[in-house]
Amino acid sequence: MAEILKYGATAKWLHWLVTFIVIVMLIFGPGLEDLPLDEREQVIMVHSGLGTLVLILMLIRWRWRLTHDVPGPAGTMGAWQTKLSKIMHWSFYVLLVLQPIFGILQAMYITEYEVVAFGQIAYSSMAADNEQMARIFHVAHGINGKLLTVLVLGHFGAALYHHFWQKDNVLRRMLPFGKVSAD
Ligand code: HEM
Repeated sequence: MAEILKYGATAKWLHWLVTFIVIVMLIFGPGLEDLPLDEREQVIMVHSGLGTLVLILMLIRWRWRLTHDVPGPAGTMGAWQTKLSKIMHWSFYVLLVLQPIFGILQAMYITEYEVVAFGQIAYSSMAADNEQMARIFHVAHGINGKLLTVLVLGHFGAALYHHFWQKDNVLRRMLPFGKVSAD
C-alpha cells in the first residue's frame, strides 16, 4: 500500500475547527466565574453550546481516527519521540471528551443559574439542583481544563520544533494548504 504523506480534508477540518474552539474556551473559560450572574448565564449559553459541539466533533473524530490510516512518524523521529507523540495524541481524545462531559454534569446540577446550550439544550433541567455534585464536577472541569492547556502548549511547541528545528513535514501535513514531499 502507498505511504500516506498527509492528512485528508476531513481530518484537517476536524483538527482546525476543534483547535480554534478549544483555544477560545481555554482562554475565556477561567474568567467566567468573575462575571455578574446574568452576564455569566448569557456567556455560558454560548460556552456550553460550543462545548457540546466539541464533544460531537471529538466523537466523530475519534471514530474517524480508528477507521482510517494516517501518516506515520516522520523519519526525523526516534523511538521515544514516536511514543511520546502517540501518548499526547491519545491524551487529546480522552481529555477533549472528558472536558465537555464534566461541563455537562456540572451544568445539570448547578444551583446558581440555568445552563441552556445555545438557548436550546436545557442541561440544568435534566437533574435536581445539587450543590455538592456541581462542586465536584466544577473542580473536575477546572483540573481537566488545566491539563488540556498544558497539552495544547506542548503540542504547539512540538509542531514548531518539527517545523523550524527538524525541518520535516510534521506541521505541513496538517496545514490547510501544506505541500508535502517524501522525507
Ligand atoms: C471542550 C470543551 C470545553 C472547554 C475547553 C471548557 C473550558 C472551561 C474552562 C477552562 C472553564 C474554567 C474552569 C475553571 O478555571 O475553574 C470552564 C468553566 C465552565 N464550563 Fe466549560 N469547557 C468546555 C465545555 C463545557 C460544556 C459542554 C459545558 C456545559 C454544558 C460547560 C460548562 C461550564 C460551566 C458551567 C463553567 C463554570 C462557569 C462558572 O464558574 O460559573 N463547559 N470551562
